[in-house]
Amino acid sequence: MTIVDPEKIVVDPNLVNITINDKPVVARKGEVIIAAADRTDDFIPRFCYHPRMSSVGMCRQCLVEVETPRGPMMVVSCMTPVAEGQIVRTATDNVKKAQEGVLELLLANHPLDCPVCDKGGECPLQDQAFSHGPGESRFVEEKRHYEKPIAISDIVYLDRERCILCDRCTRFADEVAGDPLISFTSRGNDTQVMTFPEEPFSSYFSGNTVQICPVGALTAKPYRFKARPWDLNETETTCTSCSVGCRIVVQSSRDELVRFQGVDVDPVNWGWLCDRGRYNFESVNSTERITTPLIKSDSGLVQSSWSVALDSAARIIRHALANNADSVAILGGARGTNEDAFAWAMLADELKVNQRDSQLGDGLTPEIFNLAQATIDETCAASTIILLSPDLKEELPVLYLRIRDAAQKRKSRIIEFSSHDSGLTPYAWRSVAFEPGRQAQVVRETLETKDMQEQIQRGEVVVVVGRANLAENEAFTLHALGEVLHAIPNAKILPVLRRGNVRGAVTVGLTPQQNSGDAIDILSKAAAGKIDCLILLGANPLADVADSILVKQALAQIKNVISIDTFITSSNQNADVVLPAAAFAEKNGTTTNLEGRVSNVTQQITPRGTSRPDWMIATELGLSLGIDLGVSSLDELHQKMISAIPEFASCDNEAAIQSDGVLMVHEASATISRGSKVLVDRNSYDYRLIVSRTMYDAAQSTITSNSLVGIITESTIYVHPLDLARIGVVDGTNIRVGVDEINIVLPVRAHSGIHRGTAWLPYNHTNVDIRPLLNIAADVIDVRIEQIK
Ligand code: SF4
Ligand code: SF4
Ligand code: FES
Repeated sequence: MTIVDPEKIVVDPNLVNITINDKPVVARKGEVIIAAADRTDDFIPRFCYHPRMSSVGMCRQCLVEVETPRGPMMVVSCMTPVAEGQIVRTATDNVKKAQEGVLELLLANHPLDCPVCDKGGECPLQDQAFSHGPGESRFVEEKRHYEKPIAISDIVYLDRERCILCDRCTRFADEVAGDPLISFTSRGNDTQVMTFPEEPFSSYFSGNTVQICPVGALTAKPYRFKARPWDLNETETTCTSCSVGCRIVVQSSRDELVRFQGVDVDPVNWGWLCDRGRYNFESVNSTERITTPLIKSDSGLVQSSWSVALDSAARIIRHALANNADSVAILGGARGTNEDAFAWAMLADELKVNQRDSQLGDGLTPEIFNLAQATIDETCAASTIILLSPDLKEELPVLYLRIRDAAQKRKSRIIEFSSHDSGLTPYAWRSVAFEPGRQAQVVRETLETKDMQEQIQRGEVVVVVGRANLAENEAFTLHALGEVLHAIPNAKILPVLRRGNVRGAVTVGLTPQQNSGDAIDILSKAAAGKIDCLILLGANPLADVADSILVKQALAQIKNVISIDTFITSSNQNADVVLPAAAFAEKNGTTTNLEGRVSNVTQQITPRGTSRPDWMIATELGLSLGIDLGVSSLDELHQKMISAIPEFASCDNEAAIQSDGVLMVHEASATISRGSKVLVDRNSYDYRLIVSRTMYDAAQSTITSNSLVGIITESTIYVHPLDLARIGVVDGTNIRVGVDEINIVLPVRAHSGIHRGTAWLPYNHTNVDIRPLLNIAADVIDVRIEQIK
């Protein structure tokens, strides 16, 4: 028996001293033995244990011996907590025999189809059968057989023969995602994982179950039979599909992206990804990508060389600037890296182009980044989380997982202010409804009540704030935020603007300068014939800006459009010059997530065709314009950025930005005041409109990803069931929705999460364009909903 060295005994009451295979280990109170062993070299085999989920002791593979007064006792190490002085042995003869026995039993039914299984080569069952198995089986009986495989959703396939019933997928769906759509059915030898009848596994997070399944029972359509693990090249990077900034491993085979896997970083995503971020890599591989520069000709866009296209772009800009310094504007820049945005901001500075905006009329004033900020971790540790935000499950899915976890398993209480039910409504301590435009008043009155006051006094308060409704002036959200900060001056803010690198782009200067207007002002000026040249940096205003009439008027008036993009879109199909940009995983750099965390993005594959990173295009265009940005490499540009932009001063630690990232330097310097915008009452026959995004809309990266495009649903308007009865139509019927002279026809559905007198229209779905209804200058939009007779 090994005695723990008394000099090494730690006195922290939250720590305990144990030994594992005679080596002293300091463990946290309440921790299970397998977790403590993971900090040593002694690997305990396991299948069902996952450090981010509750332990269930399903597989019994993790048996170890613990000394007791009555001698060694076999225990399940994922269920047994550590205790002071505990002596653990993980590799005695008895332990090995027990582990071999469990593996032999698991393999009694598991097919030996490793050569044709996607998991082969990276399979914990395969690996542990070699390292901890008996080497041969005594079972000669016929194995279980099931239909192979069955599609349990648009993306995921289930091969029940391979399932070892570890409960990881079912636990994840229930505990982590809150979508208990798969569970065990039947009993005994017939036990199997299955979806419910008529209910597919349509979780936004289903890819995580594929990643954590310890065998090849769950596979995903985008990766099935694409590569073998030993053929893969990989690099760690940061997802930029939204501003959560999840850490991922990007894997490629033969210079093509084949799979993204979540990486467990503590401050952000805990290993989880949403399915859009996980699977929209297919868009990078798309054959529709632009691969060469294009210039306008009488027969449309034709291929060109870089030198001709850059000269052409330079000529257009020079000509426009000669006319009037304010006749050039830049929209976009939030989808690239910090370095991309910085290079374009430098070029804009040199050209004195002040009209620039990386938000497209669907965000909030950049001032919210200058309020007292909370990180994701601080938000999830707060006593009170106030939501004045879009539906996080739809727009920032992994942030939804983190906040759901905080409300379910930790001490946080959610107070949600929302104009319709969101993914977090079931977990909210209080969910307070408001009609669009009325939130400031509702927030004020709610926070004055006694129970709210008591809750606020319990500890830290964090306000999660973003743009929830594209059919409502942003001022209403800011006024509501002003009310919260008036009532709780110490509250911190977690700004949730959704575009991947919007915070980085704003910080480096792709935001209106010298009091010039924002994207909507730019488009309004353009519609009035005051903009000669519009530069689109990965922006598609016809899809991204809610007011399509305004954008169409603007594009009709603008003399020249220069687009830097990865695809031909509705906005750049008539551009004068289109320059092909390198996509995600085709370039290096850094990105900034919604909490201001800067982390690296890494190149894994060769850019398609002759496409180049945006920063390189900016420097080359600069040279064509006679401007030398003084940058000849990405490294130089990065150094220049961290010297020039005070917020990035903390980003010179290469190692840090390659793992958890570093928080940018931040000083709270802004205030948001209460507002007094007066709103005209709604005509009681009309419905006040809520327009917001869902996870699978017709975003460019989704429509060009083969596995996702089929999931996008058609445009539909949702009303409360009693309002549907008032309209007098059957659920699913086509109805007419109108504002003034504009009418569109689309299906209506009853939805009990929509409040009476309001109607919810998801943005940017297929079949019917709802944008003509949206007037960005209006405070709120009230629509008529009529039967089609
Ligand atoms: S499908 Fe995979 S994760 Fe789910 S229970 Fe079976 S083996 Fe475990
Ligand atoms: S939540 Fe956002 S950052 Fe994370 S995987 Fe999804 S799209 Fe990517
Ligand atoms: S890992 Fe402990 S019982 Fe499965």
